[in-house]
Amino acid sequence: MNEGHSIVTLTPETTSLPAAPKAPQRLALRGDLLDFTADPGWCGADLPAAARWRPDHWLLVQDGVITDALPAASHTPGADWSIVDHSSQLLLPGFIDTHVHSPQLDVIASYGTELLDWLNTYTFPAEQRYGDPAVAEAGAALFVDALLAHGTTSAVVFPTVHKVSADCLLAAAHRRGMRLVAGKVLMDRHAPAALCDDVTSAERDSRELIERWHGKGRLAYAMTVRFAPTSTREQLAMAGRFMHEVPGLYMQTHVAENRAEVAWVAELFPEARSYLDVYASHGLLGPRAVLAHGIWLDEVDRQLLADTGAQIAHSPSSNLFLGSGLMAWPELEAAGVAVSLASDVGGGTSLSMLRTLADAYKVQAMRGARLSAWKGLYSATLGAARALGLDHEIGSFEPGRLADVCAWRWAHGPVAQARDARAARPGQPLHERLFAFMSLADERNLAQVYVQGVSHVARHEA
Ligand code: GUN
Ligand code: ZN
Repeated sequence: MNEGHSIVTLTPETTSLPAAPKAPQRLALRGDLLDFTADPGWCGADLPAAARWRPDHWLLVQDGVITDALPAASHTPGADWSIVDHSSQLLLPGFIDTHVHSPQLDVIASYGTELLDWLNTYTFPAEQRYGDPAVAEAGAALFVDALLAHGTTSAVVFPTVHKVSADCLLAAAHRRGMRLVAGKVLMDRHAPAALCDDVTSAERDSRELIERWHGKGRLAYAMTVRFAPTSTREQLAMAGRFMHEVPGLYMQTHVAENRAEVAWVAELFPEARSYLDVYASHGLLGPRAVLAHGIWLDEVDRQLLADTGAQIAHSPSSNLFLGSGLMAWPELEAAGVAVSLASDVGGGTSLSMLRTLADAYKVQAMRGARLSAWKGLYSATLGAARALGLDHEIGSFEPGRLADVCAWRWAHGPVAQARDARAARPGQPLHERLFAFMSLADERNLAQVYVQGVSHVARHEA
């Protein structure tokens, strides 16, 4: 693998976009720190060893990189530090949304359909607008700013089939210094003509975008197969060749989301053992493959995911909204598959990873499993970072990680505040407070978001 770069020539840092804003040289954030050092598993409410709870600490950041965490009781940063006091707020690593569609903000919360009708009725018409560079540019800025305003600092994103939509999205993330994985959507059949590429143009556009963006700053390129029904075998094979030949590429797609979709894939690819096998047989599964949904998989599929290192981006809000099904998260993990969390906007109805976690809890409750706040918050931070192979950069407060940090108010509004006050009484277990936060909080709780130590939004006053 990767002996030659016959498909693309990687020339990072060749374009002249403005660099990301600079963080204060020395930044000290005071607050209640929570991050994870390992997977807490399907644990109960007791504080697991994998959770690192450090109330009233300074998180020290130098040139955008986390360098230390020290108790506020015994340490005061010197005069050469910029200080921000988030006392009594919860500091978490920025959330990682592993599957979301930037152009679908335009159709979020559209009524009355399951997946295939939803795509034809709402999504495909909306995505056609992104062939217009002005729409693509404005949409990209709105989207990445909205991610930050929801406490999401890293994401794996579908723009549209149009090269310009990927260009604008990656540029917008780069300007904000964000970690983003994205690529032009590949679709050469079963969609309106205005949303179809062909193998030749898709190969050319992908090559150009990879040369421009892959490995630039905090960006990585993803071969973005929309889903098996909208790509010919030739296009799937082309994407597989890229995966084989370009180091570090990601692959993103959808799999086994909806029963009618699964039946359609079986008709279109009668030679495949399963929906997942379509991707496997075209060389598309591997450690950087991110497949959304994975609801209607069998044991052989689960083993194939585990063997290849591919991960499932669980999208509970979308699965509920589109009536797709209840994903078997513990079973997937028991088979050795990495599971991360995703909003899947616009199938999902919120960019908030906290709302996504609240929905994940309810989906698992319907299946008889219970998602603790430990497991949920781990999955939206370090768990996703590990699954993406990015835990050296994001997902925790370990020294050396980039300072993508969110400061959260524990409660917003009178109901949540009353609940929080009871949960925070002395002697109550931390999980009670944290679980109420996970279930009730959303973007209105966000006090501040830092990307590489640079503050970006401070909205929604309590
Ligand atoms: N399958 C193919 N395209 C899509 C999409 O845009 N959203 C969801 N949820 N599933 C898909
Ligand atoms: Zn999706």
